[in-house]
Amino acid sequence: MALAGDPVAGAERAGDPGAGADWWRQAAVYQIYPRSYADANGDGIGDLAGITSRIPYLASLGVDAVWLSPFYPSALADGGYDVDDYRDVDPRLGTLDDFDRMIAALHDAGIRLVADLVPNHSSDRHEWFRAALAAAPGSPERARYIFRDGLGPHGALPPSDWQSIFGGPAWQRVPDGQWYLHLFAPEQPDLNWDNPEVRADFVRTLRFWSDRGVDGFRVDVAHGLAKRLTDPLPSTEELAGLGPGAHPLWDRDEVHDIYAEWRRVFQEYDPPRTAVAEAWVEPDRRARYAHPEGLGQAFSFDLLEADYDAAGFRRIIADNLAFARKSGSSTTWVFSNHDVVRHATRYGLPVPADGGPQKGREWLLSGGIEPALDRERGLRRARAATLLMLALPGSAYLYQGEELGLHEVAEIPDKDRQDPTFFRNAGVEIGRDGCRVPLPWTRDGSSFGFGADGAHLPQPTWFGAVSVEAEEGHDASTLSLYRRALALRRRLQGPEELRWRDTDRASVLAFERPGGWCAVMNFGPDATPLPEGELLLASGPVADGVLPPDTTAWLRVR
Ligand code: GLC
Ligand code: CA
Repeated sequence: MALAGDPVAGAERAGDPGAGADWWRQAAVYQIYPRSYADANGDGIGDLAGITSRIPYLASLGVDAVWLSPFYPSALADGGYDVDDYRDVDPRLGTLDDFDRMIAALHDAGIRLVADLVPNHSSDRHEWFRAALAAAPGSPERARYIFRDGLGPHGALPPSDWQSIFGGPAWQRVPDGQWYLHLFAPEQPDLNWDNPEVRADFVRTLRFWSDRGVDGFRVDVAHGLAKRLTDPLPSTEELAGLGPGAHPLWDRDEVHDIYAEWRRVFQEYDPPRTAVAEAWVEPDRRARYAHPEGLGQAFSFDLLEADYDAAGFRRIIADNLAFARKSGSSTTWVFSNHDVVRHATRYGLPVPADGGPQKGREWLLSGGIEPALDRERGLRRARAATLLMLALPGSAYLYQGEELGLHEVAEIPDKDRQDPTFFRNAGVEIGRDGCRVPLPWTRDGSSFGFGADGAHLPQPTWFGAVSVEAEEGHDASTLSLYRRALALRRRLQGPEELRWRDTDRASVLAFERPGGWCAVMNFGPDATPLPEGELLLASGPVADGVLPPDTTAWLRVR
């Protein structure tokens, strides 16, 4: 790989994480799925002490913040997104003391911590839900959740025909005959956000973690909390035609009253705590979540969902910058997380023969038919796309393992699968376990350095070759690319602006950032001349002033 100088050596640290209220605006945030990161006590499950032991790695990677997926006590019906207690640590992951040690060590390394908050639903083991089951219909205990009588003789039919996101009915019957709503798994009863007790308790939770030094929150299913449930309830068919703001379950305007209250809590802290919404809403409704008087930032999944295509990328980038100006927030970018097939794999799957959109087709991996995956092409494109993303204004969210160029693990035996989507959609959806396999740290060993004794999801043999140990010190490795890119980004990142540059080819995107640097991405299929300038970094081999297909380069242009 062509390189100019060694940006890692000249990189500046993020500095004191206490300083700077705007740290989040262009942060590189690295998502850790704690049960699959590093296992310190050898029980096969990643833990907080394991994360703490890897902080030197995180620092050398050069991320500004860690987003920690749920680490709360949980039966793991949905990978920890079924929370038993919002103000404690899962004993299998450690203790509150371990949490304090971890956050102190992160802060010492100049890395901030964003905690995942799951307010739409608790788990069915939460003390409130247990109390609700023990209490009678109509009781205040039941009013913290969404209980309804059923339809038909003896109320034997669910209150509506709604399906849960994970498949199967969205209502579950309890022994006295009532039904409760769960938009996700039955072990995840939806909380009733019209109930002041629910609101007050989450404010307490926000303060609990903020007081412990948590710098921000990733808000799970942020578009789901406010609901308007009429009697009778509309049918799925009736819901289908409803426009934005009119749906009783998703993206209701009242949800922003909740976030306005949270914002007042965030502002009590110095620096103010931040939040990023996971809100699967129409792009033009995203600004409401990202508003400075609301959560402050929202994920954009537009690039993640897009086909590998220059024109599509350009439109999405331009639109998202415009949305950010509208909300006053910064843009966000993400290609991979714990819910989707890793982008190295998505980009290596065959383009549908009918020419239809790639979106959703990544689930071709399901159903037992593994399509021909072009691993090299996928990784080449993923590296190029990531280098483009890291040159954009705004925050970049990275998912553990993508810095190693990991592919999705398709070869998990059914008996080892954990994701409820797999069990609730038998034979149709394979679920999300393939991106949640514990990370390979070393070339070999029982769990490739993840822990002393095995991993809770089986790792494939090819993991050794893409382990941290195997990639460490290799110029051409994906790990080296991420390190260089993150270090350079820290030095180059200026105002949140970009200016498109004209290219002669529709398959080449180029833009310039303030401070005189530019990024060029060649989506292929032909090599293209590089613009004039000093080459800073490239996602693949660049020689003789030519940018090969599926490659991105950064250049100093002034
Ligand atoms: C979010 C999480 C996902 C989880 C769901 C229910 O989409 O990212 O992992 O299953 O919410 O909490
Ligand atoms: Ca462990």
